[in-house]
Amino acid sequence: MAMDILEAPFMQELIRTCGSMYRLGWNERNGGNISMIIDEGEFAFLGNLPILRNFSISFDAKDVAGRFLAVTRGGSYFRNVEIDPAHNLGILRISDDGKSAGLLWGFTGEGQPTSELSAHIRSHTARLRQDPHHQVVTHCHATNTVAMTYIHELSDKAFSHTLWQMESECIVVFPEGVGVLPWMIQGSDEIGKATAAKMESYRVCIWAQHGVFAAGGSLDEAFGLLETVEKAATIYIKIGRGGIMNTIRDHELKSLAEAFKVNYRKDFLSL
Ligand code: 13P
Ligand code: ZN
Repeated sequence: MAMDILEAPFMQELIRTCGSMYRLGWNERNGGNISMIIDEGEFAFLGNLPILRNFSISFDAKDVAGRFLAVTRGGSYFRNVEIDPAHNLGILRISDDGKSAGLLWGFTGEGQPTSELSAHIRSHTARLRQDPHHQVVTHCHATNTVAMTYIHELSDKAFSHTLWQMESECIVVFPEGVGVLPWMIQGSDEIGKATAAKMESYRVCIWAQHGVFAAGGSLDEAFGLLETVEKAATIYIKIGRGGIMNTIRDHELKSLAEAFKVNYRKDFLSL
């Protein structure tokens, strides 16, 4: 059965994504985590797997009760996921009362789910309310995005507006903007709640002086959001503050959004 799981397309894609994120330099040491809702219709055999161990959940997970989640292991190195997926990844089933998660596969040798399980599960709950096709939550320490949080105002509006100005694809890829949280202690339910609150309106939530969360209907979508935000932040860091002679102006951002027919946050522009 373990072979079947490793060969499942969702697992192959998850493993490949962890390797890509590591090679981009976004997931040093154990930095970052991913969780992905697995389609119960497509992979119904998961329901027949016995529960190997149970993890109690200290927050309310009843909105995802009964769902199957592929999750990275707490403390796992993304660098090692391709080498030993069964050690570094796990498949959980959230119990019917939302108070525990049963391990169906993976986390070999007493492993636990990521320490950011609250941010993941609460974000899944928030995104599912907005998008029934939502599936993936990713977290990484994308270097330039983190660097930008040291030198840029942290309001959602100001941060989103600067990212939109950094390259022409941004307003098309994330027309709703990005949410930004001030520095908080990671791994807590408090940061999980704050992240999920941002995920009600955005698919990207930046944690100042730490990293970024992105959500999407597929690994490609969530990964693509991370890439686009990080590319824009890289341009911001490369050009340096005060050195800007040309930019994408607000009336141009408006025309751009209209040309691509995206429903952007109009209050983030000054027109
Ligand atoms: P985990 O190893 O527990 O997933 O934590 C990594 C991390 O990035 C914390 O924010
Ligand atoms: Zn982190």
